[in-house]
Amino acid sequence: MKMSLRKMKESDIIAVSSLEMGCLENPWPEKQIVYELKEDPVAHLYVAVVDNEVVGYIDFMITFDSASVSRLAVNSEFRNKGIGTALLDKMVEVCLKQKDRVSWITLEVRASNLEAIKLYKKNGWEQVTIKKKYYDNEEDALYLVRSI
Ligand SMILES: CC(C)(COP(=O)(O)OP(=O)(O)OC[C@H]1O[C@@H](n2cnc3c(N)ncnc32)[C@H](O)[C@@H]1OP(=O)(O)O)[C@@H](O)C(=O)NCCC(=O)NCCS
Repeated sequence: MKMSLRKMKESDIIAVSSLEMGCLENPWPEKQIVYELKEDPVAHLYVAVVDNEVVGYIDFMITFDSASVSRLAVNSEFRNKGIGTALLDKMVEVCLKQKDRVSWITLEVRASNLEAIKLYKKNGWEQVTIKKKYYDNEEDALYLVRSI
C-alpha cells in the first residue's frame, strides 16, 4: 500500500466530511471544516491519500509555542497500517519548522477511546490531567501533552 500525505485542498472537503461522519462521535458540519481550511489562520489540515482516495486527516492548531490536535481520523478500512502515526509525525514536522519554536502538543481524547489513547501514548504523549465531563454527553477527557 502506497500512502502519501499532503496539505488538504478545497476539493477534499467532501471526503473529509465523510471521514468526520464515519469516524468521530460528534462530527463537524461541513461549514466548520470549510472554516478551518479557508479562514482559521492558526489551523493546519493534512490528508492521507491511498490510490487517490482520502483515507485519513488531521487538523491541528499552532499558537505561539504550543500546538494542539483538533481532529484526527482514519477510515476504518485503513486502520492499523501506521496512517494515524504518519499524520501525527507530519504535525510534529510542521511544528518544528515554525519560525516561533513550538514546544508542546496538547490534546483532549475521550476516556473511552482506548485505541486513540494507545496511539498517543505510544507516540510520546503523557496524561497531565482529566477534564471531567468535558464532552456534550458528560464523558471525561484525558488531557495529554507531548513535548517536542
Ligand atoms: C485513532 C486512529 C486515528 C488511529 O489510526 P491508525 O491509522 O489506525 O493508527 P496507526 O496505524 O498509526 O496505529 C495504530 C496501531 O497500528 C499499529 N501499526 C502501525 N504501523 C503498522 C503497520 N505497518 N502494520 C500493522 N500495524 C501497524 C500501531 O503500532 C498501533 O498498534 P498498537 O495499537 O498495537 O500499538 C483511528 O483509530 C481512528 O480514526 N479512530 C476514530 C477517530 C478517533 O478516535 N480519533 C482520535 C480522536 S482524539
